Amino acid sequence: MPLVVAAVREDDLLRYAQVYEAAFSPGSGPAISAVITPPSARTPEHEAAAVQETLARAQKRFTSSTVFFRKVTDTDTNETIAFARWEIYHEERTWDQVMEDTKQSPPPKGVNEKAWNAIFGYIQDARREFMGTRPHCLLGILMADPAHQGRGAGAMLLKDGTQKADQDSLECQLEASRAGQKLYERFGFKVVKEQIFHLQDYGGEGDDSNCVMIRPARSSQISADI
Ligand SMILES: CC(C)(COP(=O)(O)OP(=O)(O)OC[C@H]1O[C@@H](n2cnc3c(N)ncnc32)[C@H](O)[C@@H]1OP(=O)(O)O)[C@@H](O)C(=O)NCCC(=O)NCCS
Repeated sequence: MPLVVAAVREDDLLRYAQVYEAAFSPGSGPAISAVITPPSARTPEHEAAAVQETLARAQKRFTSSTVFFRKVTDTDTNETIAFARWEIYHEERTWDQVMEDTKQSPPPKGVNEKAWNAIFGYIQDARREFMGTRPHCLLGILMADPAHQGRGAGAMLLKDGTQKADQDSLECQLEASRAGQKLYERFGFKVVKEQIFHLQDYGGEGDDSNCVMIRPARSSQISADI
């Protein structure tokens, strides 16, 4: 299986935005994604605009000194199939900095604002509540192209990022969709909070959930044994 992990380059960011839109689309992504942008609103124009907005956000983050942006490429086809975006905070931050770093992006045009604010408000609150100002490693995004899920790319990116955290003995935090939770547990993350979203509150059906998960700091010696 010719999959390799490497650093994301600036010219990968369009692919990143395309994989993001595909991985978080109804049927592939968490159930709440289908409520944020219902299938009826997913016109080709909406999709193209969403990719451009995701690209603009990624380009802004790309230059940040805290970002650790990684990809998995299939070397047979030269196609990049999965991405992880970590934020690594080596130093204690001030609360002003934390508030700046956890500022919620405004809802893009055409999305269900109430659902957007519910999920992203919860995520930003979790980042302030659990790690606060402490040094840590945050998994901001993990995603695989739906056409390539289940090939081990997600696990490779988690191994890569947690090894990086262990080099500096940093705690890690993430907010897990239902699809990701088991994988994260395998890498030593434990649930510290679960949030249920009743989708009828946002015009949908059924429910979805998301967990805040934390992995304690450890040294590289211990993580090499996983
Ligand atoms: C979660 C995600 C990143 C996993 O990436 P991946 O490359 O498919 O992961 P892996 O191939 O390493 O598989 C890891 C585990 O995920 C599960 N999994 C992966 N693809 C799956 C699929 N299509 N259906 C069901 N489970 C799947 C498997 O349980 C697998 O565990 P196993 O090794 O015990 O079989 C990917 O499914 C995804 O992008 N999902 C949509 C976006 C999302 O929810 N991201 C996580 C946000 S926290």
